[in-house]
Amino acid sequence: MNVRNLMLIVALALGAAGALSLATSTATAADEAPVAIKGLRGGTPLNQDNPPVASHQERDHPVGDRDFVQMPPLIPHNTANYQITKNFNKCMDCHAWQRAKASGATKVSVTHFRSREGQELDNISPRRYFCTQCHVPQTDAKPLVANEFRRARGLQ
Ligand code: HEC
Ligand code: HEC
Repeated sequence: MNVRNLMLIVALALGAAGALSLATSTATAADEAPVAIKGLRGGTPLNQDNPPVASHQERDHPVGDRDFVQMPPLIPHNTANYQITKNFNKCMDCHAWQRAKASGATKVSVTHFRSREGQELDNISPRRYFCTQCHVPQTDAKPLVANEFRRARGLQ
């Protein structure tokens, strides 16, 4: 047998083995589990909540400048674990008028005592109760898209 015939036999044998393994692999492919798709909820059942994920936040830093006078100032400190519930508002622990002196926090704005009908209340107005509805912690995130936003002229 010359070398050429030997190589042919080896090639045929390898081909047969390849075909065999292909046959077995197609047989197992059908038995494999379906592709596991992982949603953002990470498989948590719909009737359960995921624990909140800490987003990147700068550490406490000086109060930022405002870009227009009616702007809710950004929160210059971490607010992780500051709860605002029906019975308790952690923010008011420091920002209430009677607490501001001791805590060094800015007094909550006088506008926050006005009801929807314009009546001045003696405590924080329900429409200003959920502070983080308007005030958000400031982070050093880079803008995702370019923009030409400019600070209000009165504050430039
Ligand atoms: C432990 C006390 C404390 C708690 C609790 C707290 N803050 Fe503050 N906050 C401060 C201090 C101190 C400052 C900084 C004041 C300064 O540097 O002039 C501040 C600044 C701010 C400012 C900026 C004010 C400005 O003049 O620009 C906002 C807005 C604010 N906090 C909102 C909140 C909100 C909303 C919560 C609740 C989620 C909260 N804070 C909870 C102490 C607190
Ligand atoms: C509906 C939106 C909204 C909610 C809710 C809200 N604020 Fe404000 N806040 C503003 C806006 C707008 C300003 C700036 C204009 C002003 O003073 O009213 C402001 C101003 C402030 C200031 C700066 C005051 C100053 O003298 O410069 C502080 C401190 C503050 N808010 C704290 C709070 C806290 C604490 C809560 C929750 C108890 C809260 N705010 C809820 C919109 C809101």
